[in-house]
Amino acid sequence: MKKAFAIAGLVSVSLLTAACSESGSGAENGTVGISMPDKSLERWEKDGNNMVTELEGLGYDVDIQYAQGETQTQSEQIENMITKKVDALIIAPVDGSTLSDPVNLAANQDIPVIAYDRLIMNTENLDYYTTFDLVTVGEIQGQYIVDALDLDNTDESFNIELFGGAPDDNNARFFFEGAMNVMQPYMDEGQLVVQSGQVNFNAVATESWSASNAQTRMDNLLTGHYSDEDIDAVLAQNDAIAQGVVSSLVSMGYGSDSRPMPIITGQDAEVSSVNSIIDGNQTMTVFKDTTALAKAAASIVDAILTGEEPEVNDTESFDNNEKVIPTYLLDPIAVDVGNYQEILIDSGYIDSSDVE
Ligand code: BGC
Repeated sequence: MKKAFAIAGLVSVSLLTAACSESGSGAENGTVGISMPDKSLERWEKDGNNMVTELEGLGYDVDIQYAQGETQTQSEQIENMITKKVDALIIAPVDGSTLSDPVNLAANQDIPVIAYDRLIMNTENLDYYTTFDLVTVGEIQGQYIVDALDLDNTDESFNIELFGGAPDDNNARFFFEGAMNVMQPYMDEGQLVVQSGQVNFNAVATESWSASNAQTRMDNLLTGHYSDEDIDAVLAQNDAIAQGVVSSLVSMGYGSDSRPMPIITGQDAEVSSVNSIIDGNQTMTVFKDTTALAKAAASIVDAILTGEEPEVNDTESFDNNEKVIPTYLLDPIAVDVGNYQEILIDSGYIDSSDVE
């Protein structure tokens, strides 16, 4: 049965139970368990640290664990937090399709669960979700390529290859859908040509979002399809993939006056990618302000535990196969060499000493 506290406005006994349950920590307002996927990307550590700061500022203790990219480890860590009677859980899944059991266990203990950045699938017991507008991320990447190649003002055709995210990450398909929304008409018209013919998500997905997997695939694509002509653009769905693609291109002689780098997209505004953008290798990234996302997750938790109605702005888009999850969406922003200073450095998101 659905938990009472998840239905805003019907908050009653179970909410009070959740708010007052013993965490064993002695924290003023209780303890929040945070389960993060891995530390392979700078962003997940930043996300974690920001949530700790936010929640501690609101008077909560925090138990934060990183799952090293292992689904089994993540389930065990979450079950352990449930045993320790945390008052709420925020989970960024390694693989959103593997966590219904721990989430259902949390529900049995009246512990509310918020999915962070990635959706948790196949459970009616997920309460809220907060993320960036995922389709918009992909649309920003696709539109950047269309604009950079000036496709609306030319009849010329350009070569492009596509790199999707991890096949087990629910987000990756939304990113891909967004990019294809924008680029498909140009592919249909023959203005964007995928010489490899690999255009479906499953064919272009990158296992574990890994830079080295992307590099290997790019090596194979360049050898197999680009010995006679150059590649003009690469849709890379995040910065790790973009960096793998850049390494491959550089090793094949791109990046010179006679063979310029193609347009290469990214996502996350990782420091290494921002430096690569400044160097003229990667072209752009999609900035997702993880400080704002952490704030959103902390305020959803705080609202639930204090009997308020959490703020959401999307009650239609995110169906986890059991129900549509009330979601708070934030806006992603395109960043390139023209605006990184203002958006990333002047805002304090990245320290000026970290970029050249
Ligand atoms: C996140 C991206 C991240 C990727 C790899 C996705 O779910 O939304 O920001 O680059 O995972 O960790």
